Amino acid sequence: MHTLLWPVAVLTLSIACSSSGQSKNNRANTVEVLHWWTSGAEAAALQVLRRALTDQAIGWVDMPVAGGGGSNAMTVLRARVASGNPPTAVQMLGFDILDWGAEKITTDLNDVAKAEGWNEVVPKALQAFSVYDGAWIAAPVNVHSTNWIWANRKILDEVGIKPPQTWQELVGALDAIQRAGYIALAHGGQAWQEATIFDSVVLATGGPEFYRKAMIARDDGALRSATMREVFARMRTLRTYVDPNFPGRDWNLASAMVIKGRAAMQIMGDWAKGEFSSANQKSGEDFLCFRFPGTQGSVLFNSDQFVMFDVGDKRRPAQVALARSILSPEFQIAFNRIKGSVPARIDVSDHAFDDCGKKAMAELKQAADSGTLLGSFAHGHTGPAAVKNAIYDVVTEHFNGNATPEQATAQLVDAVRTASQ
Ligand code: GAL
Repeated sequence: MHTLLWPVAVLTLSIACSSSGQSKNNRANTVEVLHWWTSGAEAAALQVLRRALTDQAIGWVDMPVAGGGGSNAMTVLRARVASGNPPTAVQMLGFDILDWGAEKITTDLNDVAKAEGWNEVVPKALQAFSVYDGAWIAAPVNVHSTNWIWANRKILDEVGIKPPQTWQELVGALDAIQRAGYIALAHGGQAWQEATIFDSVVLATGGPEFYRKAMIARDDGALRSATMREVFARMRTLRTYVDPNFPGRDWNLASAMVIKGRAAMQIMGDWAKGEFSSANQKSGEDFLCFRFPGTQGSVLFNSDQFVMFDVGDKRRPAQVALARSILSPEFQIAFNRIKGSVPARIDVSDHAFDDCGKKAMAELKQAADSGTLLGSFAHGHTGPAAVKNAIYDVVTEHFNGNATPEQATAQLVDAVRTASQ
């Protein structure tokens, strides 16, 4: 029994998806792609890939399952695999990729990787997830980063604030914005979004070494430290700047609040930039991008990769064309400009990117060179899904409830211990 096949919670949904895809799916020259790119900019970016395949006369069966971080998509995937019918390619993050690699039902892309020189052009930090047991099993499509703030420039100018550089400055700015009658922080109350804020707060409060110890090594001392209590205290402070309608709100609706000038800032990964750009907003003019105060110099990354499942020899040529298209330099530029991310290749020029994109590319390189490029916990790059989900629960319960920093810290220690067993 594959360990990843349970719990299969959304069987009905998955059967609905698979039967609609199945007849088309039998056509050899078609790829079926499972992903969670359902916002306007995400869908537009994916369209670039779809078009690249259409140009090669390859069909596309789309299988969208909403939900940032991909937990919902992973549940649907488990159901599909359990029914013996995996999709051609599945959007996936970090440790999920390695977990599926261990199941031995992915395909080996080493021949394509060799012919296309992937070993030389894909950053090593990404290859750590694309390659399992010596075999390329995934094609990385981008590099995103979570420790960003997206701000409405007009509101900041009106209130007279510059991008804050420290925690104290951030709190001062949020207070001033609230006093001016705006929603200070646009936020969507979903566990993965709260976890995304937590990424930045842990890094800002403890620095990169602390982040590494607590989130990657899951060191007990770091997890139960005074610094972690301070992290939860800061999460509580941020909660006071969110409007009452935040529960359940999708992240792109929170971005829209900033775009429309109802709210001043959103703490979110750079997929938010995709929403600003597709609303015709210009970086530097209409919106500002800056690192979460206290995290300058470090980059928390997540790389979306398409994991290729073993779908048999007949369907392999289309699958290989998909993988090859994903890593072509032209596609990487066209796609990532729309998506808000940066290319998953080191040999692509930043020429076509806006200010925020150029900054992201430069900072990614600096962080990789100086050892401060760290995986995003919220987006699956620090540990297995079981641990990630256990931490999600603690963070979201604390954000939405009344637990003290001490109680939340104790819950975190317990959750990590139990999930790691
Ligand atoms: C992340 C994913 C991004 C973006 C975001 C919101 O997990 O890596 O590409 O799509 O979710 O949907």
